[in-house]
Order: sequence, then structure tokens, then C-alpha cells
Amino acid sequence: MNLALEIIDLHASVGEVEILKGLSLEVPFGQIHAIMGPNGSGKSTLCHVLAGKEVYTVTGQARLDGRDLLGEPTDVRARMGLIQGFQYPVEIRGVKLIDFLREAADESGIEAAEVERRIVASGDQFDMTRFLTRSVNQDLSGGEKKRSEIFQMAILQPKVAILDEIDSGLDIDAVREVAEAVEAMRGPDVGILIITHYSRILRYLTTDRIHVMMEGRIVESGGAELATELEAGGYEALRSRLK
Ligand SMILES: Nc1ncnc2c1ncn2[C@@H]1O[C@H](COP(=O)(O)OP(=O)(O)OP(=O)(O)O)[C@@H](O)[C@H]1O
Ligand SMILES: [Mg+2]
Repeated sequence: MNLALEIIDLHASVGEVEILKGLSLEVPFGQIHAIMGPNGSGKSTLCHVLAGKEVYTVTGQARLDGRDLLGEPTDVRARMGLIQGFQYPVEIRGVKLIDFLREAADESGIEAAEVERRIVASGDQFDMTRFLTRSVNQDLSGGEKKRSEIFQMAILQPKVAILDEIDSGLDIDAVREVAEAVEAMRGPDVGILIITHYSRILRYLTTDRIHVMMEGRIVESGGAELATELEAGGYEALRSRLK
């Protein structure tokens, strides 16, 4: 059985600066994993490298459902089933969310009627109707942007979903709503990776594994107790323990 996402010894540099320094990570299908880590440790860079952003020199391996990702251009990676929500979602002026979704679904080989069916089916989970005819992310509040991203994922049903800073800028109710939406996305055909600074969101969704990233690599993986340890002692305590 293939893993949803398998990353082996990933290195990424910009010019002379190495940001990812031998990162390895496995996310099986059916699971939700979380990455936590201090500012600047390379979490967003990992997302950009997996998405295929071109500024990096990359070595190592990354596979989605057993297929090599790193050799493919961004659009092919999306078609292979990789979807990401970025820390700073881009606004796409003049493109309505509904049209954006139809186009993305078409590129992923999802039939138009199926897209409409999924939008209707998602109505209980997301109240996105009023956003469908507005431009993608334009003038949405921070929380609305996050909700919109997860809504898009629920419609496109990726094999791998990665959400960077999933809970930053959200009010208390929105954190719970977003967490519940992610939990609702869990399924045997998807592996989910969330990046967060706060263990708060982990109260509302069941993560199968938590990984701590420091200085460009995963330094520790564990269960919910790892988030509790970080909450209590911060990254310094973990650093001392790992020495
Ligand atoms: N294009 C670039 N050129 C030079 N340095 C970069 C570039 N992109 C990222 N970096 C550096 O790489 C490091 C990792 O950045 P990254 O955004 O991945 O961190 P992060 O873990 O997501 O942090 P945060 O928790 O603050 O979001 C930072 O020191 C950043 O300044
Ligand atoms: Mg970041």
C-alpha cells in the first residue's frame, strides 16, 4: 500500500542558503498529521517546495501515492491530487470562486455535474453560498479565507491536502469550525498534513501524529503528548531534551 505522502531526505536551498536540511516524513492514507515548529524553521518552505515553486534548488525525494512529485510541474502535481492551503492565500481578482472550482475540477478530471453535487452536499458543513459568486479570496476576512480553502478541498477531494498555518488569525469558534471541517475531510483516500503553531486546534481534531520541525528537518515525532510537552516547555525544553 502506497503512502499518501512520502518525503525522503529533502533538501532545499535558495542561493547559498539551505532551508530544508534533510527532511523525511511519511503521511499514510486515512491519517491526519500535524507539523509544529518555531518561526523560520522551514514549514512554509516545505509547502512551497512540494507545490513546485521554482526559486529553490531541491534534492531528495517526494512521492504522492507512490509517484514522484519533484520532477513534475505545478499543474501536474495538482492533477496528481496535491492541494494546499497557503499561509498567505492569494487573491484572484475577477475570478469567481464557483468558476475557479469548476476549472480546477475540470483539470482534475471531475465531471461538472459531480462538482455541483459536491457543492450541494457540502452545504451542511460550509455556508459558502454567498462566497461562490465573489472573487477568490478577494476582500475575505482571514477566517473566511481559511474556510474557503477547506471548502475548495472538500469539493476537489485531493489525495494529499496540506494546510499551512491552518488556525492563524481565527477566532475561537472559527478554529473549531475549521478543525471540524478538516476532520470531515478525513477518509481512506486522503492524507492530510496541517501546520500549526498552537495545540488549541489539536483539541478539536484527532491527529494521528505530530511532527516537530526545527532548522529544516523533523527532529521529533509523537502523539498528542508531544503537543502538551511543547505547550508546557516550549521549543527550548525540547531542544534540551534532544541534545
Ligand atoms: N526566497 C528566500 N530567500 C531567502 N531566504 C528565504 C526564502 N524563503 C524563505 N527563506 C528563509 O527560510 C527560513 C524558513 O522560512 P519559512 O517561511 O519556511 O519558515 P516557517 O517555518 O514557515 O516560519 P513561520 O512559522 O514564521 O511561518 C526563514 O529564515 C526565511 O527567511
Ligand atoms: Mg510559515
